Amino acid sequence: MSSTAQIEYPPLRSVPYHVGIIMDGNGRWAKSRGYIRHAGHQAGVNNIRPVLEGCVEFGIKVLTIYAFSTENWNRPEEEVSGLMRLLGLTIRQRLNELHEQGVQIRHSGRLAGINRELQKQILYALDVTKNNDRIILNVAFNYGGRSEILDAVRQIVADGIAPDALTEETFGRYLYTGDLPDPDLIIRTGGEYRLSNFLIWQAAYSEYYATPTYWPDFDKSELYKALVEYNERERRFGRVLDAEPTPV
Ligand code: FPP
Repeated sequence: MSSTAQIEYPPLRSVPYHVGIIMDGNGRWAKSRGYIRHAGHQAGVNNIRPVLEGCVEFGIKVLTIYAFSTENWNRPEEEVSGLMRLLGLTIRQRLNELHEQGVQIRHSGRLAGINRELQKQILYALDVTKNNDRIILNVAFNYGGRSEILDAVRQIVADGIAPDALTEETFGRYLYTGDLPDPDLIIRTGGEYRLSNFLIWQAAYSEYYATPTYWPDFDKSELYKALVEYNERERRFGRVLDAEPTPV
């Protein structure tokens, strides 16, 4: 992938394998410029590519973006249909380029509820890019963490899995994210501090980073800042790392 201005970023000690982004603030970005909300969403879509390039440059292997939540259906009809149209348009305009750049596209969320034509476009994008391995772009669209858990439970019951045979690992494979590892880092733009039903099972031990920057303004240097902070965190996963040795 090419980027215009080449800034040298000092190397990082550890890079998260999987980053999730809650892309918030499109509406406020638009309002602050006197634009309609849809212009904010369009600017938000345009910002995905440079951030994805930044992820490749910094060595991130999976990027999950929260593009449309199950709760977003409650927005005004015009905004919902605008977001649906944007996804279709983005697939039509950007799929070839993403494919050429080695991006594997995945979808996390319910296909049911999305119009048939868009469903077909999503499935086509997944199929065309399924063997790419430079980076995975997992698009959470019509996604809700609670419905994901519910859908997993329904399938587990339907498959007749015995309660004793059910492990956290098996359960994880029933989620929309399937074989993807849990996110190491979750970034939320737009200044709020909540998960909003995003990857609620998978985020159990994710590091969390929030920034007031609106999503359309979140650029590669902002991503780097988040990664620097991630590097300063000590991930203990519930353990005590400097525990005294047990006396014998
Ligand atoms: C939140 O901004 C943004 C969303 C509804 C999700 C992010 C959507 C995009 C980046 C565009 C759609 C993406 C695709 C791939 C079609 P907000 O409207 O809640 O902003 P606000 O809190 O400032 O009102």
